[in-house]
Amino acid sequence: MQKNLVRSFGVALLLLGAKAGFADEHAAVGLLRWQDADVVAEGATLYDQHCASCHGADLEGAPNWRERDAEGYLPAPPHDETGHTWHHADEILIAITTHGTAALVGGDYRSNMMGFGEVMTEDEIIAVLSYIKSTWPEEAIEIHNEINAAYGG
Ligand code: HEC
Repeated sequence: MQKNLVRSFGVALLLLGAKAGFADEHAAVGLLRWQDADVVAEGATLYDQHCASCHGADLEGAPNWRERDAEGYLPAPPHDETGHTWHHADEILIAITTHGTAALVGGDYRSNMMGFGEVMTEDEIIAVLSYIKSTWPEEAIEIHNEINAAYGG
C-alpha cells in the first residue's frame, strides 16, 4: 500500500516535471531569436537595406497607413507596437515576408508588400523579424509569445 502511494506520488511528480518542461520549451520555442544580440544586429542591417524605405527607419510605417491610396493599395504599416505586426504568430510573419501579402491573402488582392524569398535567405528573414520583435515593449513581447504558443509554435 505504502509502496503504491510512493509510486503514484513519483508518477505525479514526473508528470508535473514534464508539464513544467513543456511550458518552458514553449517560451523558447518561437522561431524568432529576438534575445540573440548577434541575430538582432544582423537583422537591423537587413531592415535598413530591405524594409526601412516603406516601413520607416524607426519602424513607424507610412503616414495614414490605415487608408488605402488612390490606387487602392494599403500603405506600409508600422512594425512598432502601434501597428499589428505583433498580433501575428512567427510563422505568419515569416510567410508574409517570404511570399508577400498578395500570395497569402489570395484571390485578386493587390499589395505593395512583395515577397523577399528570392532576395533573402530564411535565416535573414528570421533575423530581420527578430530585430523587429526586439524593439517591442516587454508587454507586446509577452503577448506575442502567447500568440505563438496558441498557434502551436
Ligand atoms: C515596397 C514597400 C515595402 C517594402 C520594401 C517592405 N514592405 Fe512590408 N509591407 C508593405 C505594405 C504596403 C504592407 C501592407 C500590405 C497589405 O496589407 O496589403 C506591408 C506589410 C508587411 C507585414 C504585415 C504586417 C501586418 O501587421 O499585417 C510584414 C510582416 C512586413 N510587411 C514585413 C516586411 C519586412 C520584414 C520587410 C523587409 C524585409 C518589408 N516588409 C519590406 C510594404 C513594404
